[in-house]
Amino acid sequence: MNVLLIGSGGREHALAWKLAASPLLTKLYAAPGNPGIAQEAECVGLDVEDHAAVVAFCREKAIGLVVVGPEAPLVAGLSDALRAAGVKVFGPSQAAAQLEGSKGFTKDLCARFGIPTGAYGRFRSADEAKTYARQQGAPIVVKADGLAAGKGVTVAMELDEALAAIDACFDGAFGGAGAEVVVEEFLDGEEASFFCLCDGKTALPFGSAQDHKRVGDGDTGPNTGGMGAYSPAPVMSAEMTERVMREIVEPTMRGMAEMGMPFSGVLFAGLMITRDGPKLIEYNVRFGDPECQVLMMRLKDDLLVLLEASADGQLGHVSARWRDDAALTVVMAANGYPGAVKKGTVIKGLDRIGSGGVEVFHAGTARKDGELVANGGRVLNVTATGKTVSDAQQRAYAAVDAIDWPGGFCRRDIGWRAVEREAEA
Ligand code: AMP
Ligand code: GLY
Repeated sequence: MNVLLIGSGGREHALAWKLAASPLLTKLYAAPGNPGIAQEAECVGLDVEDHAAVVAFCREKAIGLVVVGPEAPLVAGLSDALRAAGVKVFGPSQAAAQLEGSKGFTKDLCARFGIPTGAYGRFRSADEAKTYARQQGAPIVVKADGLAAGKGVTVAMELDEALAAIDACFDGAFGGAGAEVVVEEFLDGEEASFFCLCDGKTALPFGSAQDHKRVGDGDTGPNTGGMGAYSPAPVMSAEMTERVMREIVEPTMRGMAEMGMPFSGVLFAGLMITRDGPKLIEYNVRFGDPECQVLMMRLKDDLLVLLEASADGQLGHVSARWRDDAALTVVMAANGYPGAVKKGTVIKGLDRIGSGGVEVFHAGTARKDGELVANGGRVLNVTATGKTVSDAQQRAYAAVDAIDWPGGFCRRDIGWRAVEREAEA
């Protein structure tokens, strides 16, 4: 089968690496891809916002499955255009992608179908939002309704901070995404990312991970797209997974189908495991980045079979098996990230890293005059497996230390929570 993968991040490199291992794959194309993805696929310069051009490409190359990595093309309706043209696609419809595209939509779904989440209000004016925030009191969370590249959320420990965040949203800090604001109860507990493959009816649990969102060691400093992750998440025991499926994922699948927008693709639940049980923080409608990288290292089964089963509505007939090993990924970012970064700094030493449970996935890299250079904020995902998280952590940092890139940095404590737990056990 010929496959077209949409995207250019570390997530897509991990997907490409795993798809390339499938005996069912004939040829993999990636749009736009990156130098790491180019080791597994032919990268093509397709404009993914031009849906007609993507459809034409799929016809010309006899693409059997399109795999959409990032959320933006899903929210823009690429899956619908492909399906309408008879092209098979892994990813939700534009209507179903509202689960990520509108936080208010998801909160209303939770309220209607009894899915546990924080209490909330939706507002179109700063005055009403502030009145509600004052009534509820701090700590409280303020969220721009729409897609804001992970930057639209303020967890306010003081009321003033919440009021300022409300003003920033309505003053256009997040463009159209902030025209509506959700003010939400602060949830206390341990976070986990939980994934399911979905086909409109069935949801197949597809692993868990924990992400490190803050830029600095000890989970300090500003939020980022994610500085590292490990899998599995220790809090997602078999019992907790079963509870999350019953209380959160399954009612979501039923609710979406009942509302005429059945969900297919990957459902990524951001969870808070509180004293009262699991609560939904948010949904994403694509794999996490860098969570996907650790999931792919642990997946035993053929990814292409699973993604095709999702696209075909056949998930009831497949299963996903995982290695017992843990996996951990360290994000190497360009100096200055998540602020302004310098592009073009040279990266050396990747050839010193052996295989055997260590993979370096590329995110923002480029080739220039025969050299590998940084071309974005998050640049490399150094990923390793191990018998324990501590073991995977050691192997990942040994690989990090073999990389010669003065223009970049990473956190030195990815996995600390799990490593501490393992040390206590
Ligand atoms: P999001 O962009 O929705 O993933 O939110 C970013 C981060 O803000 C999450 O990963 C949480 O750490 C935090 N967060 C979001 N909503 C809440 C909440 N209701 N209570 C506590 N923390 C939250
Ligand atoms: N790492 C978090 C995300 O992909 O949204």
